Amino acid sequence: MRCFFALPLSEDIRVRLSGLQQELAPFGRMKLVEAENIHVTLKFLGEVGEGKVGEVSSALESLSGAGGFGVSVKGVGVFPNPGRPRVVWAGVREGAPEIVGLHEKVDGLLAPLGFKRDSRFHPHATLARVKSITDGKGFGDFLSAKADAVFGSYTLDHVELKQSTLTSGGPVYNVLKEYPLQQPGLK
Ligand code: 2AM
Repeated sequence: MRCFFALPLSEDIRVRLSGLQQELAPFGRMKLVEAENIHVTLKFLGEVGEGKVGEVSSALESLSGAGGFGVSVKGVGVFPNPGRPRVVWAGVREGAPEIVGLHEKVDGLLAPLGFKRDSRFHPHATLARVKSITDGKGFGDFLSAKADAVFGSYTLDHVELKQSTLTSGGPVYNVLKEYPLQQPGLK
């Protein structure tokens, strides 16, 4: 099954991000991510055999020892670059170093199971996949105006292992397991 680890976003942030998605329409053809599916990918695993999912799950048990932390979602940008936008994303500001640390930890825990470490990791929430841009100037101005747009803050208190089923209507995600992140001060 196709799996990935995701950082959930709070509902109010997803609502604000969905509002931003609606503003993209004038600039081109874009496939918007369903509001309930918007997340930050912590680690993409790809196809994992049924038997191996248990191993992955056990390997990640120690993640619960990592503390929860504050995350702020701020800014809008594109991958790979503004001249050739393919993916429109919202950025993570406060909490980004902790997320990168969490990603390194996950990479380290999964490497013995044969999963490749990622050479690059930029925490972000994908909002849309660009099919074509019809107003490049307008889109560039829009991105500049939204470079520091604030979508909200929340305490990240768990990580999710998700299954992604690709359908003609887009991916359907379901949570296989939740890994709570211990709150500061609690032992
Ligand atoms: P993205 O939204 O940032 O592109 C589930 O498929 C998630 O895993 C997606 O949100 C996607 O992140 C990420 N993903 C999908 N395919 C990937 C790949 N080949 N490499 C890395 N991440 C991938």
